[in-house]
Amino acid sequence: MKNTSWKIRSVRVFVVGFLMLGLSAALANEGPKLDRAPIDPSDNVSLQRGAQHFANYCLTCHGAQYMRYNLLTKIGLSEAEIKSNLILTGAKIGDTMTVVLNPKDAKLWFGVPPPDLSVEARVRGADWLYTYLRSFYRDDERASGWNNRIYPGVAMPHVLYDLQGEQQWVAEPAKTGEHASGQLVLSKPGKLSPQEYDRFAADLVNYLVFIAEPVRETRIHIGFYVMIFLGIAFVITRALKHEYWKDVH
Ligand code: HEC
Repeated sequence: MKNTSWKIRSVRVFVVGFLMLGLSAALANEGPKLDRAPIDPSDNVSLQRGAQHFANYCLTCHGAQYMRYNLLTKIGLSEAEIKSNLILTGAKIGDTMTVVLNPKDAKLWFGVPPPDLSVEARVRGADWLYTYLRSFYRDDERASGWNNRIYPGVAMPHVLYDLQGEQQWVAEPAKTGEHASGQLVLSKPGKLSPQEYDRFAADLVNYLVFIAEPVRETRIHIGFYVMIFLGIAFVITRALKHEYWKDVH
């Protein structure tokens, strides 16, 4: 009898755990859908463009305190190129990418200090970042004049506005039982076409993924050789085993 009640209790724990898992998955899926970031971490040309975009458009407010300028040689840039194109402050080649803006001023201006973006790609994921950079829209109720579909009430202004242009959020009446839906519509074109802007955002995200783990490619390389080594070691060990046991049988 005791035995059965123990079993029933385990089943209950299992069912409740399963339901909670399902519920948290359902809640995590709430909110707008993310677009897949078309990035390729082994594409150095894309990474170099991303590094340039980051230095030109993001580094004024966001630092990347775990990233040193000289690590950019890993994506095929020479030290001379890094110095002349990417270091816009007085920083030296071995310095980390510190922010131009003073954090106190930033807090005053935006209400929230712009976070360091060194490991942002690991926190949010590439798809989130790609969608975020393409989801700003005009909102006159916000102090900055901008809002974002996947980060409602964001304190960051749309700093890529001159490139992307201006988007409006056009809401569609909600059908019964569904969330209000709608879509982003480009109401004023920017300097780039929508395809060019998507490329721009993808290069930037590719770069953010790179700085979150600059040794990724090296790790994959080492892993490859380790697997080859283990493969050879396996063959030798097997041959040895055969050799040792052959007289026993
Ligand atoms: C004018 C200053 C400014 C510039 C330039 C700027 N940002 Fe921001 N950014 C902010 C502020 C302020 C926040 C904090 C927003 C909040 O939490 O509401 C932020 C937040 C973010 C976030 C969300 C962080 C998180 O997970 O909560 C990302 C991602 C981001 N910025 C990326 C970028 C990128 C990429 C660029 C360059 C294209 C850029 N930002 C340029 C001010 C700026």
